[in-house]
Amino acid sequence: MNDILITNIKELLQAPEEAVSYVAGDRMKEIPRVKNAWLWIKDGKIFDFGSMDELEDKNGLPANRIEASGKYVLPAWCDSHTHLVYPQSREIEYIDKIKGLSYEEIAERGGGILNSAKKMQEASEDKLFEDAMKRIQEITRWGTGAVEIKSGYGLTTESELKMLRVIKRLKKNSPLTIKATFLGAHSIPMEYRNDQSKYVDIVINEMLPKVAEEELADFVDVFCDKGFFTVEDTDRILEAAAKFGMRPKIHANELDYSGGIQVGVKHNALSVDHLEFTGDDEIAALKDSDTMPTILPGAAFFLNMALAPARKMMESGLPVALATDFNPGSSPSGNMQLIMAMGSIMYRMLPEEVINAVTINTAYAMNVEKELGTITKGKKANILITKNIPSPEYLTYAYGENKVETVILNGEVV
Ligand code: NIG
Ligand code: FE
Repeated sequence: MNDILITNIKELLQAPEEAVSYVAGDRMKEIPRVKNAWLWIKDGKIFDFGSMDELEDKNGLPANRIEASGKYVLPAWCDSHTHLVYPQSREIEYIDKIKGLSYEEIAERGGGILNSAKKMQEASEDKLFEDAMKRIQEITRWGTGAVEIKSGYGLTTESELKMLRVIKRLKKNSPLTIKATFLGAHSIPMEYRNDQSKYVDIVINEMLPKVAEEELADFVDVFCDKGFFTVEDTDRILEAAAKFGMRPKIHANELDYSGGIQVGVKHNALSVDHLEFTGDDEIAALKDSDTMPTILPGAAFFLNMALAPARKMMESGLPVALATDFNPGSSPSGNMQLIMAMGSIMYRMLPEEVINAVTINTAYAMNVEKELGTITKGKKANILITKNIPSPEYLTYAYGENKVETVILNGEVV
């Protein structure tokens, strides 16, 4: 593996002196930086960095150089919430949406997640893998270096395992850092609509043990919301998953004050995601917890929903993470740069807050904060070099263009 020296970097962004797990509250306004910097990548890791003034003293500098004057270097984005393994796009029900049907109404008609689940039954593992791989290559070009991917379009044991095996294959074959989440409780199949606890039993007694046995999932998720799974269902699933060592990442409070945030915190969830319905009680529950509040601007934008109170959360001292929710039904884009712009435009987050929200905070939300999310010596060299752009603020301002020129994963240019 070739060492790389990046020189004359306009600014190295997100390079804290001390390693942090995540950044919360007012501290989200700060991005630790080194001006006129160099960065040395060795054996796939960040070996060293500093200011150009001190570079000459270093011994054995690599011959392989990337000149980065006028450009910024940052950790590659971590996208901590996606459903990017799916059988088909769903633009047809998007038309229903344009005509005025709500997400819940579409779900009630057997559209939405159930629509994807039907297609999933017929999809081959190879095709799912190839399609997902293309999506992964696409998001890499926008600067993503780590991604969490959920199951949840299976909804039968066989089909859920199929999805998770595809994710396992992606882990092996892609240079991105990938985490897998088991989301058997994504929607209630039609045949269990009158007795949903029976479906929850299947998730617990049939799916979970097999997922654990094949070591297919890092985390567990439940869509705990109005019209989907209840707090009691969620409680049961999370308790069962804890026995297999799976930490929760919960879909919560997207459609109502569902109690999802509280039940997530109760089970020490790594993250609770969506959060459109977050009030004082929910904020109080999140305070002093180890749970990362994660907002998914793409879904709120696509579904025209109320917005999660990002500013209020940060003013209360909470951290905030931003992820894409890349999926065919409510957020058909995995472009983290677009999500970053939405963070500023829709949620009034400062560019610095956004950068924290898509690097170290999402790294935490997928349990990789020790290896990713900041420019720190010894961390994995998953970094990006921007194009020649005028300022870091430009990253969340120019919402349509790709500001990333080069992506380096595991120390290699991809
Ligand atoms: O995160 N909210 C629940 N699940 C997905 C939507 C999935 C779908 O509609 O296919 C989400 O938005
Ligand atoms: Fe989601």
